[in-house]
Amino acid sequence: MNQAKLHRLLSQKDKNDQELFDQRLAANLTLIQKQFFSLYPEEHHEKDFQKLLNLLPTLFLERPEILRNQDLNRLQSGNWYQSEKLVGMQLYVEHFNKDLEGLQEKIPYFKKLGINFLHLMPITPRPKGESDGGYAVNNYLEVDKKYGSKEDLLELTKAFRKNGIYLMLDFVVNHTSNEFSWAKKAKKGDKKYQRYYYIYEDFTIPAEFEKTLPEVFPESSPGNFTYIPEMEKWVMTVFNSYQWDLNYTNPQVFLEMLTNLVKLTDMGVDVVRFDALAFLWKKIGTISQNLPEAHNLISLFRMCLQVVAPGSILLAEAIVAPTDIIKYFGEEERQGNECEIAYNASLMALLWNSIATKKTQLLYKSLMHIPSKPKDCTWINYIRCHDDIGLGYENHLIQELGWNPEMHRKFLLDYFCQRLDWSPATGMLFMYNPKTGDGRITGSAASLLGLEKAIKNKDEDLLQESVRKIIMLHGITLAFGGIPLIYAGDEIGTLNDYSFQNDPVKKGDNRWVNRPIQDWETISNLDNKDLPQSNIFDALQKLIKIRKENTVFADRNNLQLCHTGNDHIFSFERTQGQKGLLVICNFDENAQVIDSSWIKKLGYFSNGEPLDLVSGEKVGLNSALLEIMPYQMLWLVKP
Ligand code: GLC
Repeated sequence: MNQAKLHRLLSQKDKNDQELFDQRLAANLTLIQKQFFSLYPEEHHEKDFQKLLNLLPTLFLERPEILRNQDLNRLQSGNWYQSEKLVGMQLYVEHFNKDLEGLQEKIPYFKKLGINFLHLMPITPRPKGESDGGYAVNNYLEVDKKYGSKEDLLELTKAFRKNGIYLMLDFVVNHTSNEFSWAKKAKKGDKKYQRYYYIYEDFTIPAEFEKTLPEVFPESSPGNFTYIPEMEKWVMTVFNSYQWDLNYTNPQVFLEMLTNLVKLTDMGVDVVRFDALAFLWKKIGTISQNLPEAHNLISLFRMCLQVVAPGSILLAEAIVAPTDIIKYFGEEERQGNECEIAYNASLMALLWNSIATKKTQLLYKSLMHIPSKPKDCTWINYIRCHDDIGLGYENHLIQELGWNPEMHRKFLLDYFCQRLDWSPATGMLFMYNPKTGDGRITGSAASLLGLEKAIKNKDEDLLQESVRKIIMLHGITLAFGGIPLIYAGDEIGTLNDYSFQNDPVKKGDNRWVNRPIQDWETISNLDNKDLPQSNIFDALQKLIKIRKENTVFADRNNLQLCHTGNDHIFSFERTQGQKGLLVICNFDENAQVIDSSWIKKLGYFSNGEPLDLVSGEKVGLNSALLEIMPYQMLWLVKP
C-alpha cells in the first residue's frame, strides 16, 4: 500500500485543518525522516530537518482552500491518473495560439478532439537568447511576459478545472539558468549561493567528474563544466553552459526547491513534470544518473508533497534505460511513493525501431524484459515530443536477435535521417558524437513516417501508407494503458518546420524542427475529407472516443502481450474481468496473416465474428488465418 492509499483510508472530510495536517504528517514522517537523513546524515543537519518541520505547516496553510478541498476529493476518488477517460496533449503555448489567454480560447478545440490533459512547455521567465526552449529557468514562480501574467495562469487553471482539464507543468528541478537570482549572487562572490551549485576553484575536481560523465549535448555544449570569468571559478553545467546544476548535497537547496514545488502546485498544477530527474545527484566515478540518492531525494519531495498537497502528483522525465525508468515509480518502501507517472520512453523508441525494421521482435523482447510496474503507477504513452528520439535499446537484446548493436543503431540513424534513398523518412541527425558513434533523431512524427516525402513527390501510395502508420502508432499509445499524450500538431500530421535554420538562437539545436507552429488554417479546413490531415484528425478523434467509452482501457496493469508467430505483427490484450480487447497491428508494408487458433482460444470468436472497433466492422477469417493489411490496426472486442 502506498502512502496515498493510506491517506485514503484515513481521510475524513470533517477534520479541521490542523487535524488534517497532523494526521498527514504523522503518516509520512517516518519516511520523510528516513529519506532526509539518508541524504544528509551528518549531525549538524538536524537543524535543517527542524527547518523542514517548520516549513511544512506553513506550506500547508498557504495552499488555497479550493485546492485543499480538491486534494481531499482526489484522495477519496482513487487513482484518477489511471483512467481511460484521460487523453493528453503537449504543446508550446506560443506556438499554439500566442499566449495563455489564446490557449484558453482554444478549449473548444481540445474538447472537439477529446483532450482533457495538457502539458504546457515551460512558461517561466528565461534568458533572452538561448534558453533551451525555456528549460533554463530565471524564476520558478513567475510567468514569462510573452505568455501573459501569473493572473492569466490562475485564470487558465480555473477555466481548466471548470472544464475538467488537467494541467501538467514542468519543474526544472535539476538546474537553474545562469540568470537565476542564486546564480547571479554566486557570480558576485556570495559564498552562500555558490554552495547552491557545484562550483570549483580550479579544474581538479571537474577533471575527476569528467572521467565518467557522459555528454548530453556533445555538439553544442561539450563537457560538463563551464568557466565563469566573473567568479574565476568552474560551475557544473551538465546540459547547456547556461544551465547550472543545483547542488542537492546542500539541504538548503532542497528546502528552497520544495517551497518552489509546492507553490507551483498551489497555482493549480495537477501533475508536475520532474524534468531531467535522473541527474539530480552527482558522484565522482559514476555517470551521475539514476543514483540511489536521486531516488531518495525524489521520494523526499514526494512525501513532503503528500503532506501539504496530496492531490498533485509527479511525472518522471527519465529518458533512460527501460529497467532504470521503472525505478522512478519507487522500489521497496518507496514503491508508489516516488513518481506516479513516467514517460514510456522505451515503448516510444521501440515503436520507431519497429517502423524502420518492419519487425516487432525487439519490441516484444524489450517489453518482456521490463519488470512490471507498481499497480498505483502509470505511463505516459507517446510517439513524439519536443525532444529527440534516443536509441536506448538494450544491447544484449539486439544481440540475441543476431544483430550487431552498433550497426543496428547506424541503420536506424541512416533510415530516419535521410541517408538511405529508399527510406520514406525525413528526419534529422541530432547530436552525433563522432567519439562514440552515438546519435539521436529529430523530426515530426508525420515526416518520420513518410508524409513529407509523399507530399513532395506527389506519391499517393506513400501518402496513404504514411497516414496508416501515423494512425496505427497513435492507436497503440491510446490502447496501451496509461495517459496517451499527443504532441500538438501530430493530430493533423504536421510536417517538419525548417524555419529554425534561419534563427541564430535556434539553428544550433535541430530539435526545433519538431516544434512547429499550430496550423489553424489546416484545422479550419478539416471538413475537407480529401485531406490527409482530416483523415488523421478524424481517425484520432474516433479512437479517443472509443477509448473513453471502454473501461478496459483504464490502466490496471491489465495488459498481456500476445505472441502471434509472425515477426511483423504486434499484439496485446487488455482485460477487465470477462471483458477483453485485442489489439493487433501490422508493421509491414505487405498484408500479413496470423494463425487464429489462439485468438479463438481467448474467446474472441465464441459468439460469431468479433467486432473491430477501429473499422466498426466484424472481422472474418480466411480459413484458419486472420489477414491484417499493411499498417492496419485492429481493436477486437471480446463478445
Ligand atoms: C529535458 C527536456 C529537454 C531539456 C532538458 C534539460 O530532457 O525535455 O528539452 O533540454 O530536460 O532541461
